[in-house]
Amino acid sequence: MEILESRLFQEEMKKKTAAVEELLEKKLPKQDTLQKTVFSAMEYSVMAGGKRLRPIITGEVYRLFGGTQQDVVEAFMAAIEMIHTYSLVHDDLPAMDNDDFRRGKETTHKVFGEDMGILAGDALLNYAYETAVQGILAASDKTPAVKALAVLAEKSGVFGMVGGQVVDVEMTGKQLSEKQLQFIYCLKTGGLLEAAFMMGAVLAGAAEEDVRKMEQIGEYVGMAFQIQDDILDVTGTREELGKPIGSDDRNAKTTYVSLFGLEEAKKAVEQYSDKALEILKGLPGENPFLNSLVMQLIRRRK
Ligand code: IPE
Ligand code: IPE
Ligand code: MG
Ligand code: MG
Ligand code: MG
Repeated sequence: MEILESRLFQEEMKKKTAAVEELLEKKLPKQDTLQKTVFSAMEYSVMAGGKRLRPIITGEVYRLFGGTQQDVVEAFMAAIEMIHTYSLVHDDLPAMDNDDFRRGKETTHKVFGEDMGILAGDALLNYAYETAVQGILAASDKTPAVKALAVLAEKSGVFGMVGGQVVDVEMTGKQLSEKQLQFIYCLKTGGLLEAAFMMGAVLAGAAEEDVRKMEQIGEYVGMAFQIQDDILDVTGTREELGKPIGSDDRNAKTTYVSLFGLEEAKKAVEQYSDKALEILKGLPGENPFLNSLVMQLIRRRK
């Protein structure tokens, strides 16, 4: 399979990240009205940085399947990053992981208060759908766009991210089996990554069979991504990650690392990434940037 030479990949990644930053800035609400505190809190959490992995994936999968309506895919790219950011704002709240640092800055609830942390999360979740619906209205063919909205909603909610977070907090402090841990990871992290891959394909009008392949890739990338996140919670630094290390230990979370040790965890990241790449390889079309992106997730330090 074709991949990009490392320096070229880094350059491309930088450009695509900058493009997402610009897109988000353009989409966020800005008004000097009475509820402006929530606009500030939304802006603060979304524009704090972050890898922008999910919107980049959606854009690249759209390209892979030959999509051409840039304004439509961009609405969904912005929407998924808003939902992802809301999930982080709520994940950091005192009632959940109680973390003070995110994306290299103080967490939203630290700066704006817990009430605004909750409301900014709620606001981002709703605004994500307002944004996605604008994408539907702009689409020349509405059916694929409505289907993409259905994917986004399902994978963010009780059958996806929210469902995984529920089991994650309920099981905190308890010993988990590998099966239970897999369930949590597939949903809490896999959910939005599945949506990111699937939406690109759905919006471009890909065949159902290919959409299912994207879902499977998203699940494998989600597992690899969350296990690497667990590894970095132990081996990373706050400077690199922009969030505290040792959060899982402090919260008595069973993670892939606490269950199997670092070496096994690293192997699992490679195995899941390989499985994702295997499916990418089998597709008729090819996007060398996307191949490289999935490949380099194994080695990520942030
Ligand atoms: C963090 O996601 C939460 C997990 C699912 C592990 P990211 O590592 O993608 O966070 P940002 O968007 O780069 O801040
Ligand atoms: C959270 O997992 C995944 C979400 C759905 C937000 P973590 O709790 O491990 O994520 P971090 O380490 O705080 O980013
Ligand atoms: Mg958490
Ligand atoms: Mg957390
Ligand atoms: Mg973590």
